[in-house]
Amino acid sequence: MSKVVAITGAARGIGLATARALKAKGAVVVIGDIDEAAVAEAAESLGVTGLVVDVTSRESFAAFLDRAEEAAGPLDMVVNNAGIMPIGPVTDESDADARRCVDINVHGVMLGTKLALDRMLPRGGGHVINMASLAGVTFTPGLALYNASKAAVVAFTEATRLEVQDRGVHVSAVLPTFTNTELVAGTRSPKGMKNCEPEDIAAAVVELIGRPRPQVVVPAKLARQVRLGALLPDRVRQAIARRYGLDRIFLDFDPDARKAYDARIRT
Ligand SMILES: NC(=O)c1ccc[n+]([C@@H]2O[C@H](COP(=O)([O-])OP(=O)(O)OC[C@H]3O[C@@H](n4cnc5c(N)ncnc54)[C@H](O)[C@@H]3O)[C@@H](O)[C@H]2O)c1
Repeated sequence: MSKVVAITGAARGIGLATARALKAKGAVVVIGDIDEAAVAEAAESLGVTGLVVDVTSRESFAAFLDRAEEAAGPLDMVVNNAGIMPIGPVTDESDADARRCVDINVHGVMLGTKLALDRMLPRGGGHVINMASLAGVTFTPGLALYNASKAAVVAFTEATRLEVQDRGVHVSAVLPTFTNTELVAGTRSPKGMKNCEPEDIAAAVVELIGRPRPQVVVPAKLARQVRLGALLPDRVRQAIARRYGLDRIFLDFDPDARKAYDARIRT
């Protein structure tokens, strides 16, 4: 795959695994992250260019893409992956946390998409991949803020796709389930289900690049369940959620195990 790819939020987790998988396929990868030390370490371990970027700032994001193109050539793909997940009762969320979540998860993705399209549309080619979540289409107590931010990513990605689809540029959303990264620290998996690994999401991104589609659910088997679930009466949907413990997962978490993650996303 002789593609040039920039990935945000790639110092760790899903972004890092995606960078690794794309590099293994022959892509020229540039990673960006707000965490300066972590992105430098990740870049060195992968043997790719690593840059600091704050996806909430137009100036920072534009400079990231400019520097990525200087280092690697015109971008074929931009993966808007950076995101945070505050959890807990909605009444406990501070206004500052809410703004930061929307700023990173929603405005960061919108900004990254717009800046990528500015480069790709004149060339008539490219692919913007936005990391949404199953949390953008299925909603859970304790996750209102994150649910809202990811629903916005799903809607924004689809409307943008419809707008530019005849101009040679693909726009896709990836909707992973629970994935074992620091983002889910201190939470339990749904009963009887195994979390994905970051490598599973990375493999789905690699596959999506080879075969562009509007939306990819990971694991793929959950796509049908989500579509069917949306048709069920509220009472039945809630009974199923209770069976899997989904009604309590983001309320009965372990705050100690989440401390380091919480501190990281607030700085
Ligand atoms: N882990 C899951 O269960 C899961 C499930 C579905 C979707 N997602 C989404 O996948 C994406 C990656 O999540 P992850 O699980 O790998 O989390 P993670 O915390 O391991 O990695 C996220 C990275 O984003 C970076 N980041 C945060 N704010 C930033 C900013 N303003 N500018 C640039 N970088 C910034 C962080 O420093 C971190 O390195 C997120 O959008 C997340 O919402 C995760």
